[in-house]
Parts: sequence; structure tokens; C-alpha cells
Amino acid sequence: MSNETLTITDNRTGRRYELPIEHGAIRATDLRQIKASPDDQGLMSYDPAYMNTAWCQSRITFTDGDRGLLWYRGYPIEQLAEKSTFLEVAYLLWTGELPTKDELHTWVHGVRYHTMIHESIKKFLDGFRHDAHPMGMLVSTVAALATFYPEAKNIRDSECRRIQFYRLMSKMPTLAAFAYRHSVGMPYVYPDNRLGYTENFLNMMFHGREPQGSLDPESHHSPVLARALDVLFILHADHEQNCSTAAMRTVGSAHTDPYTAVSAAAAALYGPLHGGANEAVLRMLREIGTTADIPDFIKAVKRGERRLAGFGHRVYKSYDPRATIIKRWADRVFEVTGRNPLLDIALELEKIALDDEYFTSRKLYPNVDFYSGIIYEAMGFPTDIFPVLFAIPRTPGWLTQWRENLEDPEQKITRPRQIYLGHGRRDYVPLDQREELTDETTRV
Ligand code: CMC
Repeated sequence: MSNETLTITDNRTGRRYELPIEHGAIRATDLRQIKASPDDQGLMSYDPAYMNTAWCQSRITFTDGDRGLLWYRGYPIEQLAEKSTFLEVAYLLWTGELPTKDELHTWVHGVRYHTMIHESIKKFLDGFRHDAHPMGMLVSTVAALATFYPEAKNIRDSECRRIQFYRLMSKMPTLAAFAYRHSVGMPYVYPDNRLGYTENFLNMMFHGREPQGSLDPESHHSPVLARALDVLFILHADHEQNCSTAAMRTVGSAHTDPYTAVSAAAAALYGPLHGGANEAVLRMLREIGTTADIPDFIKAVKRGERRLAGFGHRVYKSYDPRATIIKRWADRVFEVTGRNPLLDIALELEKIALDDEYFTSRKLYPNVDFYSGIIYEAMGFPTDIFPVLFAIPRTPGWLTQWRENLEDPEQKITRPRQIYLGHGRRDYVPLDQREELTDETTRV
């Protein structure tokens, strides 16, 4: 055996084991041979929240949290954000390579011509209350799409998977825009397939309506805003293993169709600790109100009463590279829309936080969500729809991760283990014989 091994001595038995190390990891199942007695099921590793567990091998996205690196299929995010387009990045993620001109043309055509949704989906949307959260509407209508495309269950057919990829990429913006139009009581604007991906989305959102907070009622036609949105979509397209991607892989591992799996992933993204953070940032900045009120807010964070939304990351322990790019785009967007006054509070908040030992010692830096909401708001998007603006571009990432999981011969249905700490066996007590619980025996 090479020296790429780990030697473990089990002090319960005195036995020694040599486990192979591959790609910087040992296989958790190799631990099962370590037993204290013949009827012992074998040693497990305990890792709540997957803090140190690699649960797949992936060739899609690379992050290095200490150095602030993010690569899709080996290409640095900075280069893709500057030179590529969202649809090209989606192709790159799905196929592993950048497309030729012809390949890109076919691909864009494929995505562009599936934008329409069945009229019955519109009826679902009509059934929601006027103030329904657009993410709730998106999560349910994406799941409902599965009933319109039952052939999507054919998850082993690569051509069928590609069609579902087109459909999901195409229909997510339509569903999102329709959810928004419903919430403001305006007629739905049908997709216009002559337009580019983000132009079409902006048009479906804002046609005939002055974007909220915008100085220019026609600003949604601005190529600068369409490109800014395209760049933001590139930055959100994938982020290796995280809560929503884990949901996608887990649900997909049961061979569920991709619509239902994307709905589950979007549900995970909805949470304020994940994709809901951009919405939380805006609400936080509004609550702080003025730069003079920042110190009191920071004190509340340090007392543990609040979290600084848009700060911190499980992986990035230095500046999130996506936040750097977004910050640069803010000025270009504000030239079109007018400056969002919340930017001043955000900049000052960042300055104070990065100068404070509480944040520096915990390596808490702005993440992708810290500045994205300010740009979205300036572009006229209402705060409620921010998590949806994360879900649309994360769709190619989820689908690529889902496919990789299905094609990996080592993967099976996801089924974590647990350490059971509950009661030993006990007999059922009839209702009339049960006693009140004392303080020491409170119910869980
Ligand atoms: N504000 C104040 N303190 C924080 C924050 C924050 N935003 N984030 C982490 N901490 C503290 C935390 O209290 C803990 O301190 P202590 O060691 O004294 O208990 C320490 O930093 C480590 O935090 P953690 O909760 O163990 O870290 P985590 O890796 O489990 O959490 C996180 C990562 C992103 C959930 C967390 O940083 C957070 O809640 N951030 C705010 C929400 C947010 O912006 N989420 C978007 C993440 S980026 C988009 C995405 O990929 O979803």
C-alpha cells in the first residue's frame, strides 16, 4: 500500500486499521469494519450539517473558500462574467465545454422556444391570493409542470433530459414574471421569443408598467440592465454543494422527475439562510434606515440578537468573488436607474463590519446576496421576488448536478444514518392509564 493511507488504532480493542486516502478523503464506509464486538454494526462518522463530509465526486464547479475562487468547469467566474452570456454558461455547465457557434445557436434556439406555459398553469396562478409570495407561487407551479410533461419521468433517456432542461430554463422566467404580474393585478405579458433571455424576462415583468423606483418608465428596455441581469444570472448559475443543490440531488436520487426535484431545490433556496438572504438584506437595510443607526445595529448583531444578512458563508472565508463583481456592476446599473440610497448604508455597514474584530475573527465577509438586492431593487424588482431571481439562474446548476448524480455509478438513493438517542423499547400505555408528565419528563 502507498503512504496515502490513514492508520487508526481502536483503543476499545487495541486493533489497528489502515484505510486508503483518495482525493484527500477516506471512505466513510471503510470505517464500518471497525467494530468493538462481533454484533457491533461498525463505526460511523457523525457530521451534522455535513460540515466535513464530501458526499459526491463532481466535475462541475470548484470553489476555494480561503482564496475566494469560483470556477465553472475550470473557467474562473471573473472571465465568464466579463466575456460570456448566461445561456452559454448554462451550456458549459450542462455539457462540460464551451459551445461552438453552431452549438450555441441550436442551444439558444432550444431554450428560447419553450418559454410558453400551458394556459392551465395561468389558472393555478390566478388561484393564489394577491399577496402570495412569488417564491411560494414558483415552487408550486414548477412542481405542477411535472403533470404536464409526464414523459419527464424517463430520467434515463439523455435526449428526454435535454428537452426538460430546455423547458425548465425557458419556463422559469415566465412563471416568475407571471407570479409578479398576478401580485400587482396586471395582465400577464406573454413571452416574446425574438428577445434575448433576460430582455424577455424584463419585458414580461415590466411591460406597460413603470418599474418600481425607476426614474425612467422604459428603463427595462435598457441593454445595460439586460446585460447586468445576465451577469447576475451567470454569478448565480451554480455553487457546487449547498442546501438547495443537496435537496436537488437527494430528491433526484429517488428517481423523481426533474420538475418536482427543482421545486424541492427551490423550496430549500427560499429560506433566509440561503437564497432568501438577498430579500433579508434589503429588509435589514431599510430597517437600519440611516448610516447613523449602523453602530447600534452592529451592537445587536454582536450580542447575538441579530444576524448581519448577506454576510458570512460556509465556504468563503474571504471575500465572496461574486460579491466583488456585483459591486462593480452596481455603478453601471445606477447610471440607468438612478442611485439606490440603500447603497450608502450597505457600503458603510461593510466598512464598519470589516473593521470589527467580531467579523474579522469569524471571517465574515459580504456574500453574493449583500449587493445583489440593491441592484435588483434599483432595476425595479420588488423585494419579494429576489429569491426568485436566484432560483431562475440556479436552474442550470441544479439540473446539471441532478444529472451528474444520476450518471454516477457510485450514487444510490440518498439515505443518511443517524445516532439514535431516544427511548429503549417500552410498552404502549392506554389513554386512561397515562399520568401527567412531570417537569423532568416533558414531551419533546
Ligand atoms: N452575522 C453575524 N454573525 C454571523 C453571521 C452573520 N451573518 N454568520 C455567521 N455568524 C457567526 C455565528 O454567530 C458564529 O459565531 P460563534 O462562533 O460565536 O457562534 C460564527 O459566525 C460561525 O457561524 P455559523 O452559523 O456556524 O456558520 P455557518 O457556516 O453555519 O453559516 C451562513 C453560514 C451563510 C448560514 C451564515 O453565515 C449566515 O447565517 N449568514 C447570513 C445569511 C446569508 O447571508 N446567507 C446567504 C449565504 S450566500 C448565498 C447562498 O449560497 O445561499
